[in-house]
Amino acid sequence: MMTPRLLQNGRLPPALEAELATLYDVHPLWAEPDVPAFLARHGREFVGLVTSAAVGADATLIGALPRLRVIASFGVGLDLIDLDAAARRDVAVGFTPDVLNDCVADLAFALLLDVARGVSAADRHVRRGGWLSARWPLTTRVSGKRLGILGLGRIGRAIARRGAGFDLDVRYSSRRPVEGVSWRFEPSVVELARWADFLVIAAAGGTATRHLVSAEVLDALGPQGFLVNIARGSVVDEAALVDALVAQRIAGAGLDVFENEPNVPPELFGLDNVVLLPHLASGTHETRKAMADLVRDNLHAYFSTGRLLTPAPLH
Ligand code: 8YV
Repeated sequence: MMTPRLLQNGRLPPALEAELATLYDVHPLWAEPDVPAFLARHGREFVGLVTSAAVGADATLIGALPRLRVIASFGVGLDLIDLDAAARRDVAVGFTPDVLNDCVADLAFALLLDVARGVSAADRHVRRGGWLSARWPLTTRVSGKRLGILGLGRIGRAIARRGAGFDLDVRYSSRRPVEGVSWRFEPSVVELARWADFLVIAAAGGTATRHLVSAEVLDALGPQGFLVNIARGSVVDEAALVDALVAQRIAGAGLDVFENEPNVPPELFGLDNVVLLPHLASGTHETRKAMADLVRDNLHAYFSTGRLLTPAPLH
């Protein structure tokens, strides 16, 4: 059998790139100076596309690969992959769910604890020598409070389970109630925000959830409420969030994701009620290795059996 020829869209972890290069004939699209010209000339050579949640695969790229049979993505988010374009062409799409749930949920709590207790801001205070002349102001208790979760998928559930360790009262909002869970469903995002002390976003990105966390939701969260986002920046109306944080109409925010990454609104840089991270929730050695292994295993399964281990859900 001929070694399948794969196109690689965007960079992947070095160990995964090296491993795929030993198994397949991989071409780095990211190194091409003129992508449209390259695709016009070579597009029909590729049967597989390997990409990531950060880079995805749009309809133009899928359309430029007429013999494409499989897309394997590094990451759980599918918002940048045109699933309809892939389905129309019967192209299989694999992704890496579940293996990152724990690390992403852990980071949601890191952000929640940090912004409520002022960990990063107080650390800056100590480093500046501020402790020598001023005490740090009191912060907000986390244990025993109300945790609202927007999106109760795999990651949302991992966050909800962790809530028990902090004696948090947990409610959630999602497209529909989730069967088999004991947490209370709240159909209205505004009401969930009004009820919650901490509103954590764990919903998928994409058009269906765009700006779901609006100015109205932020006002419902209110001046004692904190927002945490480990999902996608697109779920929040970022301009409204900046306004709410600057005017202290919400208490604070812990953000791992932004609407226009890696660009972060500069208005946030001077605020101590915000914790800003560079989209690192899944970024541990262990989880990134598990994600990389699943990309490799998905491709192996597809090319040896015609089936992916973790196909993207059809919608
Ligand atoms: C990654 C992610 O940081 O899996 C996702 O959807 O957002 C993260 O795990 C990353 O985008 C992988 O490319």
